[in-house]
Order: sequence, then C-alpha cells, then structure tokens
Amino acid sequence: MPLVIAMDGPSGSGKSSASKGVARALGLRYLDTGAMYRAMTWWMLRNGVPVDDAEAVAARVREPVIEAGSDPAAPTITVDGADVSGPIRTREVTNAVSAVSSVPAVRARLVELQREIIGTGGIVVEGRDIGTVVAPDAQVKVYLTASEEARAQRRAKDLAADPGASVTVTRAEQARRDRLDSTRKASPLAKAADAHEIDSTELGLVEVIEAVVRLAKEHE
Ligand code: DC
Repeated sequence: MPLVIAMDGPSGSGKSSASKGVARALGLRYLDTGAMYRAMTWWMLRNGVPVDDAEAVAARVREPVIEAGSDPAAPTITVDGADVSGPIRTREVTNAVSAVSSVPAVRARLVELQREIIGTGGIVVEGRDIGTVVAPDAQVKVYLTASEEARAQRRAKDLAADPGASVTVTRAEQARRDRLDSTRKASPLAKAADAHEIDSTELGLVEVIEAVVRLAKEHE
C-alpha cells in the first residue's frame, strides 16, 4: 500500500514546513488541505456570500473549481483557474475561514476533492481532520503541537507584510480560530487515537522532519 502520512495540528504548529520537508525527503506528493478551505473562503468573500450564514455558504459550495497542485517543491492553489496563493493568506480570509470550514457541506465537498487527490497514496496530507476523517487508514499519523506563544510568533512572521498583524493581535485572532476549529460540530481539530504527538516548541524544523521520516520508515 503506498504511504499516506496524515499531519494534523493547530495553526502555527509548523505543519506546512514540516509536511513539505517530509514529502521532499521521502519523494512523496504533498497536499495542503488548509489552502483548500482558504480558497473556498476567498471565493465566498469575493462573491459577496455572507460567511456567517451557513445556509448561504452551503448553497454555493459546488460553484468554485478548486485545484491544489501536489508538488512539495512548488505547491499551487487555484480557483477557477486563477492563482490565489497570495490572496488566501490575507487576514480577511484567515479570520473568515473558521466560519466557512464549519459548514458541513463545505467539508463534504472538500473532503471529496481531497480523497480524489490522495488517490491510492504516496502523499503527505496536512490539515485538522486528516487522521480522523479524511484518511483514517493512513499508515502514519502525526499530531503536531507547539506552545501558544511559539505558534503566535510563527504566524506573526508569516504575516510580517501586514501592518495590523502584531504578535498580540495575531495571538488573539489565532486563539479565536483554534477555539472555533476545535469546538465546531463537523470534524473538529482532534488528535486521532493512533496519532503520534510531536511538540515542536523546542524542536527545529529539521528535527521535526527527521522524527516523522523515522516514523514513516518504521512502516515500510
Ligand atoms: O492550516 P491553515 O491555517 O491554512 O487552515 C486554515 C483553516 O482551514 C483552519 O483555521 C481550519 C480549516 N481547516 C479545516 O477545517 N480542516 C482542514 N483539514 C484544514 C484546515
């Protein structure tokens, strides 16, 4: 069975860098499911859909064509053929994404697309519900955490170009997003019973990648 590595955890835990690094080290594909939720959110905002109205959001989930490229060296995300890799990282999208991703119809649509991309495997998939819902049969499941402070620092660095995004503001917005993502009814952020927890607060990126590669090798 080709390998599927599920990488779940809260925002700022270092999932993206670690997942891409693991995929490159092992010659696997890479899928950022958070980018897909962001792309859906960007499209809803762009089309004037009130993102706090679950019914309004649910009614439109099949309209955008969301495509995620799975090369870890150059992951891509497009909506209706247009590159949205920049716009999906704005604070506007970041602060609306939890509402959109709590809508069951959004999740059903994106999980369907994610399973198509995962196919028979050979891929590292990062998100919130990969080990629990999207790929419960993944051979390797990792739950990556880090202290709230370390996560806010990393996020603020990602948002350095945005003048409103101080560490304090980022920390508050992140705490809100984590609370929404962990308490929503539909597939909340959760550690799978068989996931290996890695705390990256004190670990460098290379050490996290090495730890996951070791787990993958044990499954060969
Ligand atoms: O990983 P990220 O911060 O780019 O994810 C953005 C949002 O998408 C996150 O706040 C919750 C949602 N998400 C989700 O609900 N399920 C996933 N598998 C991935 C992301």
